Amino acid sequence: MQLIRLRVAGLRCLGEVDLTLAPGLNVIVGGNGAGKSSLIEAVHLMAYGRSFRGRVRDGLVRTGQTHLEIYTEWKEGPAVHRAGMRHSGQDWQARLDGEPTQRLTDLCAQVAVVTFEPGSHALLGGSGEQRRRYLDWGLFHVEPDFLMGWRRYTRALKQRNALLKARPTERALDPWDHEMAAAGEILTRQRQTYVTALEPGLERAAQAFLPELGRPQLDFQPGWKQAELGLADALLLSRDRDLAMGYSTTGPHRADWRLGFATLPGREALSRGQEKLAALACLMTQAEQHALRRGGWPVICLDDLASELDRNHQRQVLEWIRACGAQVLLTGTEVPESVQSLGFPYRLFHVEQGLVRNGETGEDHAHAV
Ligand SMILES: Nc1ncnc2c1ncn2[C@@H]1O[C@H](COP(=O)(O)OP(=O)(O)O)[C@@H](O)[C@H]1O
Ligand SMILES: [Mg+2]
Repeated sequence: MQLIRLRVAGLRCLGEVDLTLAPGLNVIVGGNGAGKSSLIEAVHLMAYGRSFRGRVRDGLVRTGQTHLEIYTEWKEGPAVHRAGMRHSGQDWQARLDGEPTQRLTDLCAQVAVVTFEPGSHALLGGSGEQRRRYLDWGLFHVEPDFLMGWRRYTRALKQRNALLKARPTERALDPWDHEMAAAGEILTRQRQTYVTALEPGLERAAQAFLPELGRPQLDFQPGWKQAELGLADALLLSRDRDLAMGYSTTGPHRADWRLGFATLPGREALSRGQEKLAALACLMTQAEQHALRRGGWPVICLDDLASELDRNHQRQVLEWIRACGAQVLLTGTEVPESVQSLGFPYRLFHVEQGLVRNGETGEDHAHAV
């Protein structure tokens, strides 16, 4: 997909901005606190229904305003779509192609964005929740029945957890174990298949961004000892513990994955810089998988790339991205030297105190200076 227009009002420091984006690389420059990341947050919010910097109700709406507004137009093949969202921090309303949307996921299903930002290293170093979300985002876009199955599992888990706290009879737990097992086995198969599908792409991306670490390996952990027993048996076996704890300690809601490299034996940790590059490789691989399955690339957002990566690595990443042809939104305090030295054509926007200084159309830069 390719964003044509992005209008944002009342998101953090952003007043009213209205950008006409280029199909390729868009560079958004501005000083610290100018509103660059807030622009990326707006795009991310349309795609995920959430921010990468905390909850919408925790300060995303501009101080003194009642709500934020985002409107975007994009091209998907020959078709042009439009979507708008209004969020008060508590409640939201959205429209997609002129029709009100019932669920935020209806909107998110149409807007595919992959974001690399200063917190992205947590994909590898942070909690399992982020890694599960990564798999589930990919599946949400490429497996038509994924969301239904995910909801079914999540509902059963909630019911089982509520029951566990209420000192239930053994028999009362049976139907929820059954439901969790049925939905959880399907969910796990989908996640496993997805991880396997990512492997070849990840090898190429890691070779491009982190060749010094050798071959990457993705190791999927389903959330229970799947090699030894089915989920239904695992739930039965963990019942006593679950009753004592008051929640379900085992199952796909505890799934995780690890990324290992040939030259890093055992549990040797990645440096912070390597963590960022490895996270970027995972994200770009996911974007590529999306393109393979859906026939179009997601929009790639790179927030503050230059302060996250050294020049060499910026260059490798930008070369990889240029070759794929996806639309890119890149922010920084200045145009990265690597963009110029690669001769990557770009459209430039200046953000200052929450406004875009040079109007909506930006300045086009065709070649290296
Ligand atoms: N709810 C809010 N209302 C008004 N301003 C905000 C709000 N939340 C954050 N800000 C301000 O917005 C700016 C953050 O913008 P940000 O997009 O992170 O800037 P950049 O990425 O360009 O450094 C900061 O100056 C911050 O104080
Ligand atoms: Mg920023």
